[in-house]
Amino acid sequence: MTDEAQDEYTPIIDGALLVKDATIIWVGGARDIPESPKPDVIHDGKGLWLLPGLIDCHTHLVFAGSRSNEFARLRQGESYADIAASGGGIIQTMRQTSAAPYEDLLETANHRLKQWSSDGVTSIEIKSGYGLTLDDELKMLRVIASLQQTVDIDIFPTFLAAHKCPPEFLSHDAHIDFLITEGLDTVASLDINWHGQPTIDAYCDPIGYTPHHIDRLFNAYTKAGFQCRLHTEQTAHSGGTEVAIRHQAISVDHLEHINDTQILQLAASQTSATLLPLPYLHTREAQCPPVEKMRAHRVPMAVATDFNPGSSPIASLPLAAYCSTNLFGLSTTEALLGITRQAARVLNKTDRGQLTVGTKADFSIWDMSQPDDLVSGLGLARLVQRVYNKA
Ligand code: NIG
Ligand code: FE
Repeated sequence: MTDEAQDEYTPIIDGALLVKDATIIWVGGARDIPESPKPDVIHDGKGLWLLPGLIDCHTHLVFAGSRSNEFARLRQGESYADIAASGGGIIQTMRQTSAAPYEDLLETANHRLKQWSSDGVTSIEIKSGYGLTLDDELKMLRVIASLQQTVDIDIFPTFLAAHKCPPEFLSHDAHIDFLITEGLDTVASLDINWHGQPTIDAYCDPIGYTPHHIDRLFNAYTKAGFQCRLHTEQTAHSGGTEVAIRHQAISVDHLEHINDTQILQLAASQTSATLLPLPYLHTREAQCPPVEKMRAHRVPMAVATDFNPGSSPIASLPLAAYCSTNLFGLSTTEALLGITRQAARVLNKTDRGQLTVGTKADFSIWDMSQPDDLVSGLGLARLVQRVYNKA
């Protein structure tokens, strides 16, 4: 259960904050700024809005190739699962990404990240999951981690271990066995900046892995110090939520088909819900996640793009926020919290996503007059300045 109110958001009119060593040390009204310490530099926000750096806590941003051919098929009524069953979907991107050189993946990902940067995003999670072999997965994780050197955004890598069973394995069970016996030690000893605990993700779905597979996987990985999160209840009720909660997952993601019992379990846990309205929109999913019930039980709800070449080739966190209101029924305040404070919770980070004492100097000045301008008035809010200090 969340310890913060879902809808708590208190704008400070004529506010000010003090920053020292890249950390916020005071927040309040401009009239109440303490006499000392005297600031070395003063920035005048000119009455504009100061927001925490935005956070996209669920993406698959590193991949090669395109699946734009699937867009027409989706519009003609084929489902995401139909396309996967006919040999399309994730496996296509696995083939293309595995064949792509490291440098090419790095270059295209760097280029894509400019979009997030210009939208005011200062933290992004990026998953692997398009490798046919363990080496391909390691290549992806290295690409993801090295993006940190070239972009002014904090990059949170996630090992998406069980996404689609590679053809070399005779069964999903055999793939899970391999991930436990060989994958675990190799990925755990990979020398990359995970930005905290290493994170494992998986896809629990009739076209993915069963709850039993996920249980075995998470059992082994959490014992080795990984934190977990899970794609689940996306195309159908799959029963992954309770397994994820049992392993103290940081988040369960998608949730269009979550049921009442699972919502109660979620509410009694520390696990967040991550809502992904863009794949819902793109794949023409018929069922919305039960937002009203999750709200009633105070389940923390983050919002993210799920950017990927198949179910969500839409590179816009503001659009995800907009769709979370207009399609899923979040309030604009919940949407704004979903891409800031609640998204930080999914990254298991308390040092960002809100403007409070002790958090990072990670914020942006926006020309807007209310949260609606950012969330529902797409393109109306103008990003004036990003202030982001990695130290
Ligand atoms: O979150 N559903 C599983 N994984 C991704 C889609 C990946 C893809 O289609 O390439 C998702 O929707
Ligand atoms: Fe995803």
